Amino acid sequence: MASRIPQSFIDDLLARTDIVDIIENRVNLKKTGKNYSGLCPFHKEKTPSFSVSPDKQFYYCFGCGAGGNAISFITEHENLPFPQAVEELAKLAGLDLPKDDSPQRKNEHLYLAQFKILDLAAAFYQSQLKNSTAKHSAISYLKSRGLDGAIAKRFAIGFAPPGWDNLIKTLGMTDTDQAHLERSGMVIRHEEKDSLYDRFRDRIMFPIRDMRGRVIAFGGRILGDGKPKYLNSPETDTFHKGRELYGLYEAKKNSRKLDKIIIVEGYMDVISLAQFEINYSVATLGTSTSLQHLERLYKIVPEVIFCFDGDKAGLKAAKRALETVMPVIRDGQQAKFLFLPEGEDPDTLVRKQGRQHFEALIKSATPMSEYFFNSLSENIDMESIDGRAIFSSQALPLIQQMQPSLLQQMMHDRISEVTGLSIEQLASSNQLHEQYDNSYQQMPEQQHFTQSNRQTSYSRPAHNSPRTAYSPRKKRTANITLVNRLISLLLHHPHLITLVDDISDIAQIDEANTDVLALLVKYWRSHPKASIGQMLIDWQDNPEQASKLLIISEVSRLNPCPDNNFQQMFLDSWDKLKERKNDLIYRDLKNQQTSLKSNLTTQAKQQAKLYIEQIAAQHKKKQQ
Ligand code: CTP
Ligand code: MN
Repeated sequence: MASRIPQSFIDDLLARTDIVDIIENRVNLKKTGKNYSGLCPFHKEKTPSFSVSPDKQFYYCFGCGAGGNAISFITEHENLPFPQAVEELAKLAGLDLPKDDSPQRKNEHLYLAQFKILDLAAAFYQSQLKNSTAKHSAISYLKSRGLDGAIAKRFAIGFAPPGWDNLIKTLGMTDTDQAHLERSGMVIRHEEKDSLYDRFRDRIMFPIRDMRGRVIAFGGRILGDGKPKYLNSPETDTFHKGRELYGLYEAKKNSRKLDKIIIVEGYMDVISLAQFEINYSVATLGTSTSLQHLERLYKIVPEVIFCFDGDKAGLKAAKRALETVMPVIRDGQQAKFLFLPEGEDPDTLVRKQGRQHFEALIKSATPMSEYFFNSLSENIDMESIDGRAIFSSQALPLIQQMQPSLLQQMMHDRISEVTGLSIEQLASSNQLHEQYDNSYQQMPEQQHFTQSNRQTSYSRPAHNSPRTAYSPRKKRTANITLVNRLISLLLHHPHLITLVDDISDIAQIDEANTDVLALLVKYWRSHPKASIGQMLIDWQDNPEQASKLLIISEVSRLNPCPDNNFQQMFLDSWDKLKERKNDLIYRDLKNQQTSLKSNLTTQAKQQAKLYIEQIAAQHKKKQQ
């Protein structure tokens, strides 16, 4: 009989799976605030009571009470036994199920034992801050860094006293316990003496916890100036440096609804910020920010701010972060870049300047698109044609790696603006031909909106597909609703709104997405110069508008226009919308006729009658 699937594998699988992705492929979901909702797949209903929380990574139906995580969704929905559901998800996540005789399966009990021993170690270090004979040096060091008892407790900060065997003596009572300590990296084997000694000695101890709050590793800081300044647990079964973020558990625990997270460099930065009530920072553990880090963070919050020192190393790290984040980001999500003054880190700065100052810096951080253009054009003479060509040849491949999104569209537009060339021209120009692959030439106009690609690995169209092979466009155009067509046209050419008269109360028209169209019209009427990028940024700050961004992103993928005659198409569509509005008024008035007759003064009746006749005449004319 097959052995149990190890919990470690299931944890890993759930960490790599986004429940929204999984459910979205099976149920029509709409973004409603932070969550998604739709019609429950587990019982019959007409109004949506099924809700998916990306934040908590679970689903729940208020109608029938069904609920659970990604795995239970698959077991219920596909009617699969647990192991098969896990297998199904593992395939999607690109993970191989551990074989029956794999170390991971055989070592399942070891994995659990390590959590236990690490937890005990954390408790031991914490107790040493109170009980060790050397505690004074530790406490005075913490005080000198400005930490108080409350914050030390919140981050479970401890102290590994001086000496080679404090931990092993306390926790390594049996051979098995010693083996667990060794496996979890807490003690090191002295090969010649064949004995074990404590890895962490005379250090301030920072337990690193996973999302569930289990201790998975430690960082230890020397008290003062010795070297190495920090010592971290090695990679173990429970600890994978490139995936974990220090402070994420604490941040999540502190607040039920985080809306942004700032990534800093060090343990002390996270702790100091938290002490100043900035409870949403995390630190990578001496590595640069990885794809896994970002995927994890964007599951929790829509906005991630990278914080860097203002020195050369900081700038270099920022460039790397930019390249990592670009392919990850989706509509509704944001990345920002914050550069601190030289010589400061978040810890020193927040202590000198206080919370308000630091939060103001966070607020004014540079949006990704801006940083992208600034950093790429840095050493390039953008006044010269050559310079601009070099610029776009560097920028386009990066932009092409982005998820199909409005932001991507905006960045393309920006390049066109800077270079004065259309994307097609750019792509087919000789200079770019090689760097930039054929996919652009195959697909005119907004090709990047035509595919809904929520994966992070992106495949590009094959090189040999003929340029004319773009037949799906017709079909898409035929299928698009009037309102969606107007939305899509407006998104791609906001100035069109200046060509038409207002239609009052568009949102009342009984069709999907009229509310979105109404908001867009209102926005571009009052911001006639705003680009789609500006619109995106502005809307993100307003909850009502922000809640429409997902719909907007989807509609924008529908190609509205088979040829370049988009202006005429917009005008025609706008007229049709006006007719629908008139139809609506006509119907309403007709319905009200009876009550009008009895309730109105003679003069008002006369007016109403005239109005109804007018509209009726228009209506008739349009129908002919
Ligand atoms: N780091 C490490 N090993 C080192 C130095 C640094 O693992 N020898 C990692 C730690 O995670 C540390 C982070 O890199 O928190 C940032 O290092 P640094 O900026 O040098 O330290 P600070 O966090 O500023 O630490 P402190 O303020 O305590 O000096
Ligand atoms: Mn520091």
